[in-house]
Amino acid sequence: MNQITVISPDAAEKADVASNARKVFIKTYGCQMNVYDSNRMSDALASEGYVPTEEMGEADLILLNTCHIREKAADKVYSALGRLRDMKRTRAEHGRELMIGVTGCVAQAEGEEILRRAPAVDVVVGPQTYHRLPQALARARQGERVVETDYAVEDKFEHLPKVDKARARSRGVTSFLTVQEGCDKFCTFCVVPYTRGSEVSRSVSQIIDEAMRLVDSGVREITLLGQNVNAWRGESPKGGEWGLGELLYRLAEIPGLARLRYTTSHPRDMDDCLIEAHRDLRALMPYLHLPVQAGSDRILKAMNRRHTGAEYLRLIERIRAARADIAMSGDFIVGFPGETDQDFEDTLKIVEDVKYASAYSFKYSTRPGTPGAELGSQVDEAVKTERLERLQALLLRQQQEFAEGCVGKTIDLLLEKPGRMPGQLIGRSPWLQSVNVDAKESQIGDIIQVRITGTGPNSLFAERAGA
Ligand code: SAH
Ligand code: SF4
Ligand code: F3S
Repeated sequence: MNQITVISPDAAEKADVASNARKVFIKTYGCQMNVYDSNRMSDALASEGYVPTEEMGEADLILLNTCHIREKAADKVYSALGRLRDMKRTRAEHGRELMIGVTGCVAQAEGEEILRRAPAVDVVVGPQTYHRLPQALARARQGERVVETDYAVEDKFEHLPKVDKARARSRGVTSFLTVQEGCDKFCTFCVVPYTRGSEVSRSVSQIIDEAMRLVDSGVREITLLGQNVNAWRGESPKGGEWGLGELLYRLAEIPGLARLRYTTSHPRDMDDCLIEAHRDLRALMPYLHLPVQAGSDRILKAMNRRHTGAEYLRLIERIRAARADIAMSGDFIVGFPGETDQDFEDTLKIVEDVKYASAYSFKYSTRPGTPGAELGSQVDEAVKTERLERLQALLLRQQQEFAEGCVGKTIDLLLEKPGRMPGQLIGRSPWLQSVNVDAKESQIGDIIQVRITGTGPNSLFAERAGA
């Protein structure tokens, strides 16, 4: 899944701030699902009278919604907690409360250990139990230090307040919607099966209800989320089983929902119906994040990815046959234990073959408790650095080539938010690029036709088609 750092609560949500209300600041690390979860936690706390703030200094409650995927991600949490301890002490000297909570994947992985290492922390709540956050805070206020990391028997989504329309509206015209959580794949490098638990799918009715609420509040584009989103399974309203493909056909019928995406997919779970959805559904955007991680069959096997490089390439051929203009995106790990120069060359080769429009690449990070951590033949850090540089140079070149290939094309653009210059908006292309165009703020949410005129470092420039 794409990595995002630091998202703070939405500015517009501050509108209803009552001056004496308790305020919550949420700092989000990690993937899109954490962004989604932070919003749901913010909503759950709103029912308890908390209003969101973007100023950490104003907050009565600070939540760190954390990521455990690589060592660096987890380390960030402890250094942030060190700073918060000082802040809490200063607050106490002024007789004002500051509560601190750790949520997300570090909370799940480390539980009690966080309380031991970080004395300032009041509550530790895992990703499957955050519906219990209000109760955990109430107990903490009585002086208890609370750890809630057992996998809940109840369905968290049934216990969370429904997505609030006014708050959804304030968050913009694109939205995430978690449909699946957890992972049963157990890639040997990865902590996710341990932090998010086993694969669970939300029901069709829950998903449709939430999608309709989002659309009613002005959302035009929904990205369905799951650690293995294409492993989603549900019971069709007429009985029988649906996969993600069937769910997409159903969601595409919702009036006003212009665009659909989904992430992250595993190559093993791309079934025929999902590929056909790319052929048939205008609303399904021609962009697919389909991580392969490595190109060498030996390494893919050691990673327990359960497919070969050739199988991955064949799959992409089938997807491109269904939707010729689909942009491919991926994740890569360099320096998995035992990776030789030749194995790494195989990764470069698969990248050359696929031609990615965008991609994320990382140095292998040893994660305690995963099978990869037990392997000998760990790769030298300097070798990892050199491989990552070579891979990233190639991926960047491909990304630029893809962007340059868009110049001169007329495309549909979803106008999303104000741009840096007055009179400019930023929109989203079908291929998930940011595009700058002159347009009025009142047009946010419209889909307009533009002609791409040029490329910048991280975005494209466009003019109104026909202008
Ligand atoms: N469910 C998603 C991945 C979630 S983690 C999937 O299967 O694609 C996002 C990305 O982080 C992974 O695709 C992988 O490239 C990277 N990653 C996971 N564990 C890692 C580790 N131990 N070291 C380095 N990168 C890792
Ligand atoms: Fe991690 Fe593999 Fe599961 Fe993705 S499929 S979350 S990389 S174990
Ligand atoms: Fe990180 Fe957990 Fe997402 S480990 S990448 S926040 S699933």
